[in-house]
Amino acid sequence: MRGFLVVGNKAVTKPFSLKDLAGSAGRMDILCRCVAQALFISHGIRKDSEIYLLLLGKPDPPKALKILGSEVRYMAPDERNVGGLIRKALQMKAEREWKRSTPGIYVARKDLKELLEELSAKYDEIVYLREDGMDIREVACKLKNPLFVLGDHIGIKEEDEKIVLKFADRIVSLSPLSLQADQCIVIAHYELDRCSTLSKSKGLEEANP
Ligand SMILES: C[S@@+](CC[C@H](N)C(=O)[O-])C[C@H]1O[C@@H](n2cnc3c(N)ncnc32)[C@H](O)[C@@H]1O
Repeated sequence: MRGFLVVGNKAVTKPFSLKDLAGSAGRMDILCRCVAQALFISHGIRKDSEIYLLLLGKPDPPKALKILGSEVRYMAPDERNVGGLIRKALQMKAEREWKRSTPGIYVARKDLKELLEELSAKYDEIVYLREDGMDIREVACKLKNPLFVLGDHIGIKEEDEKIVLKFADRIVSLSPLSLQADQCIVIAHYELDRCSTLSKSKGLEEANP
């Protein structure tokens, strides 16, 4: 399993206009792209991938969404479609326990600490993605069942970073450049996918020296 947790610092916590994802919805466009990159491949869905969105914007923060590749249906990878499903989830009352909105999409009232407490029991490693971390290539093939934590356009605020660092097993960098959040997800998937190709070709070499 691979998981991603994206902190949406301004992402609104009420239903929003699909015509203004990047504006009045608090950069919900970023979160929609993250969902698409976490779950979709060409003509298919990664069933072993899931993404959590922490919405911290007005008027009713915090709210958390959970979107599971193994269950999701009726989703297309475009921002408007993903945004429509997120908006639907925000029409539900958020409570402590996850409640299903549509197939594979759940909503709850959880803050960063509560979410990380829950996810650190589910994932073997919490990996905080930050520009100055250790090169992903040094660790990618050793990662088992990782949850990657990343920020939106604002990043992760200092007080939230203190919480993330309490749970993080590693800080990992994907590039010397500061990337957009959805680009980070693409690269993390790529590096982990590449490990399985490398281990298969190593197996072939050993079988046919
Ligand atoms: C657009 S960046 C945030 C930029 C923001 N101005 C800042 O300084 O944090 C969004 C998130 O992607 C992740 N990120 C961006 N570039 C990265 C890199 N090269 N390696 C690892 N994570 C990266 C970080 O988690 C960051 O919070």
